[in-house]
Amino acid sequence: MPVHLRADDGDYAPNILCPGDPLRAKYIAETFFDGGARQVNGERGMLGFTGTFEGAPISVQSTGMGCPSAGIVFEELIMLGAQRLVRVGTCGGLQERVALADVVVGATASADDRNPIRYAGMEGYAPAATFTLCETAATLAREGGANVHVGPIVTSGLFYDPDATTFGRWKRLGHLGVEMEAAMMYTIAAVKEVEAVAIMTCSDLLFESGDTQRISDDELKRGVDDMMRLACRVAVS
Ligand code: HPA
Repeated sequence: MPVHLRADDGDYAPNILCPGDPLRAKYIAETFFDGGARQVNGERGMLGFTGTFEGAPISVQSTGMGCPSAGIVFEELIMLGAQRLVRVGTCGGLQERVALADVVVGATASADDRNPIRYAGMEGYAPAATFTLCETAATLAREGGANVHVGPIVTSGLFYDPDATTFGRWKRLGHLGVEMEAAMMYTIAAVKEVEAVAIMTCSDLLFESGDTQRISDDELKRGVDDMMRLACRVAVS
């Protein structure tokens, strides 16, 4: 039994959704899974549940925020038999064509955080998603009527970055959005030979001036609900 996920082999399904927020994990299990999901972890409030989605086995496990916390959870999920990790969450949008509530699929996740590179042990390492999961996410999102973008994202170690130029510089390198866990997930998944993709709803627009625009609570809920249903489909595809 791992240290932080107090579960045994077989408690998690091979395909696992990974939101940052523990209460979002509970919401996903209660709202999108078929009835009868059971809690498989509560250690440190990091809620995890296992059930089925449209009859297929699935789990959801919260990761907390940032690479160090999320890395512990990804590692322990793999110890417990995970084969496919699907991060679900929000990102800040960096490009003009990315609008609030759009879906962003991270084909790659540049590591603006030392942890993924330290884990990979190679300075030039480029964390990347599983291509077939990106394809499936894009196809299912379009079929569902979403505005979906597939491309590079950046995983930051800082939510409150004192350098106001950082976002603009990632934007100029073509990055669609910024979040805080995907590069760690892609790196651990690569080393451990499991599949991974990060699917996000754009919750903020980050302008080069340093200004930001936040989505309304109603629009965020609608966007995140649609994205989580999509992520369940990708997880069991
Ligand atoms: N930074 C990092 N992660 C995020 C942001 C952000 O601005 N918005 C949503 N997730």
